[in-house]
Amino acid sequence: MLKKISIEALRPGMVIHSHVGLWHNDPSLPEPFPITSKKDITMLEERGIQDVYIDTMEGDDAPEARSQDEVTEELNAQLRELVGAKSDPLAEEVTAITADLQEASAITDQANQLVGNMLNDARLGKMVDARAFTKVAEDMVTIIRRNMDAMIVMALLRCTDEETLSHSVNVGIFLAAFCTHLGLDPRISEQAGVAGFLHDVGKVRVPRGILEKEGTLTDKEYMEAKQHVNFGKELLENSKGITKVMHIILSQHHERYDGTGYPKRLYQNQIHRLGQMAGIADVYDAITSKRSFRAPLESHVALRKMLEWGERQFNQELFQHFVRCLGIYPAGSMVELKNGMIGLILRNHREDLLRPLIKVVKDTQSWSGPPRYIDLRSMRNQPEYEIVDHASQHGSGIDPLHHLNIP
Ligand SMILES: [Fe+2]
Repeated sequence: MLKKISIEALRPGMVIHSHVGLWHNDPSLPEPFPITSKKDITMLEERGIQDVYIDTMEGDDAPEARSQDEVTEELNAQLRELVGAKSDPLAEEVTAITADLQEASAITDQANQLVGNMLNDARLGKMVDARAFTKVAEDMVTIIRRNMDAMIVMALLRCTDEETLSHSVNVGIFLAAFCTHLGLDPRISEQAGVAGFLHDVGKVRVPRGILEKEGTLTDKEYMEAKQHVNFGKELLENSKGITKVMHIILSQHHERYDGTGYPKRLYQNQIHRLGQMAGIADVYDAITSKRSFRAPLESHVALRKMLEWGERQFNQELFQHFVRCLGIYPAGSMVELKNGMIGLILRNHREDLLRPLIKVVKDTQSWSGPPRYIDLRSMRNQPEYEIVDHASQHGSGIDPLHHLNIP
């Protein structure tokens, strides 16, 4: 076995195989060169030799030194990393997405905290101050503009024990993403995000028994539940930092395009576009979130159901935009490929929603190597990499948050 050692580590009894440098140009030095005394070492030092390769099969070993194979492997690994990092755009993108997800998760933590405080304050009759959300809304829109899917993952996968809290944060995320997707000014997106955080604040005045009741509400209970919009408007009247955007979204998120909503039964364009958008985001989150009395619908099922009601209840044009904003296979959901692989959607390409970037979470063959990522856009000519179906998370034993390294 060859080992590279410094001249200081060379001892009589070792056999030099070759040295690093000009050994092969010096005909007076034999190869191999058995070191018989310290004089040999001194002679090499005088010739300026600093490193040599010893052959441990022919002479004594240098136990501290690493073998040439180990060194070569380490150098190769460094080269692979160096070359790979520079030449593999997919690896770079995955690294960036991973960082975005961590940031989005931290922003969601902050939003949960602030919205939780706001709801508690409102319950205690304290004044709501929308300015408390300014920074988190700015951060949220910044990341949405860079990587919308990172925040959408949070709205789809993360939840707290309190339904109103989770729903408020989720609607804030969806609205900020929806506005950004439509190209609205970032300040509008931020305000729409805050509006989402605030939109159901009036529920603090509705008895929990009604909000969490299993089964159908009586007419009286339903009337009371619907009051949350008016309660919210009252709360906003005494609040600081409320903008027109926030007021519209809170007031109109239950109005419906066909005039069947509440509280004013507004019809079509009597409802502000932001109000129409809020209605879509509100319903989508309500039916895709876990509620105490029913299981959540998977995103594609929810969108299909909303499409069925769509012509009547939602502005079709806006609904189509919302679907495009989320993606047919939203980030954080799972799909099955024709080759049997199960992939977790990391990022959608809005111009090609059928070919997102995925992380392979289940293969037909077992593998224990590093995580694999595939940008399905680069697999256009390989039909086995086409998505054939949504893959249900329920009962799959796969935890998307775990795969995304989100606590
Ligand atoms: Fe509501």
